Amino acid sequence: MDSRAMVLDLIVRTFWLMLPPYAVNSAAVFVGGGLPMDFGKRCKDGERILGEGKTWRGFFGGASIGIIIGLIQNYIALSLPENGYITPFSGDYLYAGYVIALLCFGAMTGDAIGSYIKRRRGIPRGGKAPLLDPLGFLFSAWVFAGAGAPLWFYNYMVKDIIPIVIMVIFTPLIHRGANILGYKMGKKKVPW
Ligand code: CTP
Ligand code: MG
Repeated sequence: MDSRAMVLDLIVRTFWLMLPPYAVNSAAVFVGGGLPMDFGKRCKDGERILGEGKTWRGFFGGASIGIIIGLIQNYIALSLPENGYITPFSGDYLYAGYVIALLCFGAMTGDAIGSYIKRRRGIPRGGKAPLLDPLGFLFSAWVFAGAGAPLWFYNYMVKDIIPIVIMVIFTPLIHRGANILGYKMGKKKVPW
């Protein structure tokens, strides 16, 4: 295989493996609602700790949907002949589930931390935070995966360098596109 094809495989594999944390982020919009994670409480600055946009149902519902998607992906990848891009998270379903859970709960946690930072900076719910909104969930997913499954994370995301670089460049673009789509579908009040 020439090196261009290898890079392309690597890119496809990266997006394939990062599909669960991506899905989690959008899934929360559909399943969210109900009790807010901060229970309506405020910080000393008078602003909500996280705000009305972070709910327990969104947190656990979003993460669960991501885990289900990841396990389906794992099943699909294991039923295909071995290839460089549609790869399983792991041949062991239990370990695959563990890695996927790290990525998904990492994404939801990063999303909540992002809201905490936004509120402390006085940015209202739904207000725009340039790097935080599109990349916060992803970095947090990586921190969780790196801490909980360091070898997996090293092998799939760090070793070849390209995956992380590609994700950092393309995620804000995809995030923007998805939000414009959500806005046009009437699922989001603002196009970001
Ligand atoms: N959501 C939720 N629970 C979460 C995360 C998201 O219920 N833990 C839902 C909320 O309905 C939220 C929507 O998904 O409004 C979009 O999520 P997000 O853009 O992260 O929240 P924002 O409303 O923009 O609020 P923030 O400014 O705090 O990011
Ligand atoms: Mg938002």
